[in-house]
Amino acid sequence: MEICGKKTRCRAGSSPMSTLTCGKVQDMKRIIKNGTVVNDSGCIKADVLIDGEIIEKVAPDIGDPGAEIVDAEGKLVLPGAVDAHTHMDLDVGFTRACDDFYSGTVAAAAGGTTTIIDHMAFGPKGSYPWHQVREYHKLADGNAVIDYGFHGVLQEKADERTLSEMKEIAEKEGISSFKLYLTYDLMLHDKDVFAVLKEAKKDNILITVHCENDGMVNYLRERFGNEGKLSAEYHPLSRPAAAEAEAVNRMAYLASEVGDAPLYIVHLSSAAGLREVKNIIKRGQKHFGVETCPQYLILDDSMYDDPKEGLKAIMSPPLRKEEDREALWNALKRDALDTVATDHCPFTFEEQKQRGADDFRMCPNGAPGVEERLMLLYSEGVRKERITLPQLVKYTAANPAKIFGLYPKKGLIEKGADADIVIIDPDKKTRFSRDTIHGNADYSCYEGMELHGGIDTVMQRGRVIVKDREFLGEKGAGQYLKRGISSIC
Ligand code: URP
Ligand code: ZN
Ligand code: ZN
Repeated sequence: MEICGKKTRCRAGSSPMSTLTCGKVQDMKRIIKNGTVVNDSGCIKADVLIDGEIIEKVAPDIGDPGAEIVDAEGKLVLPGAVDAHTHMDLDVGFTRACDDFYSGTVAAAAGGTTTIIDHMAFGPKGSYPWHQVREYHKLADGNAVIDYGFHGVLQEKADERTLSEMKEIAEKEGISSFKLYLTYDLMLHDKDVFAVLKEAKKDNILITVHCENDGMVNYLRERFGNEGKLSAEYHPLSRPAAAEAEAVNRMAYLASEVGDAPLYIVHLSSAAGLREVKNIIKRGQKHFGVETCPQYLILDDSMYDDPKEGLKAIMSPPLRKEEDREALWNALKRDALDTVATDHCPFTFEEQKQRGADDFRMCPNGAPGVEERLMLLYSEGVRKERITLPQLVKYTAANPAKIFGLYPKKGLIEKGADADIVIIDPDKKTRFSRDTIHGNADYSCYEGMELHGGIDTVMQRGRVIVKDREFLGEKGAGQYLKRGISSIC
């Protein structure tokens, strides 16, 4: 048995059964005993035998004299969460997101996420898709503490070179999903979007899309600017739900016209957008998936009332209204959405967000959230009976793994899967604040909320990387994941 010798750092709790060791565990066996194992298919009371990096067996009363025991009595044993939408080290031209692949993945791990799929920033104007793939390996390799993959990015145009690079990157790099934007400076226009979708259909590539009508948004931003309406409260007014709904509907029609090209809508925020989703499904569209984020389920646009505090929530799309939140929760309950990801894109409040103090249009868009997702959804979702435990796993682990070509290696507690596991203690309480979060942001949007439940242990491929919110893993221990074809394709 090879262990790392960091036993003293492993605060394993008071139970005599819990004598966890962390670090390099090549031939080591562990049994997670007496927990409730939760998959997207249901919950069972069972033990989980881990052999090295892999789950060997899930069954009641597993015995193995050589195995280290992890006591999970009264606790929930979930697959490590998969966050399919983060922006680590995002370069927005005038500044960068304050979490790099090290600090951002430490925060993810502390919140029970063991895999991220990061959305690349746009490359320099005129660059082609390979450019950012190379850049992102430089940013992430040797820094990420959990397993990671990338979505490719498409910008400005979809000429022959763009499309052939997309195909080549999918084949060589296992980057089986690409993102395009319907707004922002380096967006794609419909002619190019259509060309991308046609190619994506042919090559089984999933196209993920930021849906906002650029014309509507730019008209309103300009008008508010001319009228001197520049405080944070005008941010949501400049990006109305109708801008999202129109773009969702347009993307669906464009995809359906080329035989239902694989399409995934990121960060759906509104009831109006959701109505379009319902119509799209009703029309019989196939190969279609939709993501929402905790901020659209839990926060609302009253956060913009205070012009100072409001800067914390300047993100696109913006926070919506109470009825939008309710509509999104109901959709999750009815299995009408596919994933809940974070869109983690943090900037510091005291410095970076202050760029927007006199003009909301100058504020870098985005907010932290990679650490908060799982406990927010457990406390606000499961404990308030808005979703079930299997649905929690479905939205945060199983579906993102399936949709982004990582299943059943990730997103499942079953023989043969990676031993990525998060143990939740329902009796703990969790508070997120600038003093307790692990990332580099100096605030949490959920400051002051007391959540039911807490992260007890996080394992990545058999190694204990978090115990009682303390990070015990190693810089660079995350593996780059070449992904397979999406379940949506
Ligand atoms: O405001 C946000 N969400 N910033 C990150 C980039 C994006 O649009 O997802
Ligand atoms: Zn976006
Ligand atoms: Zn994003």
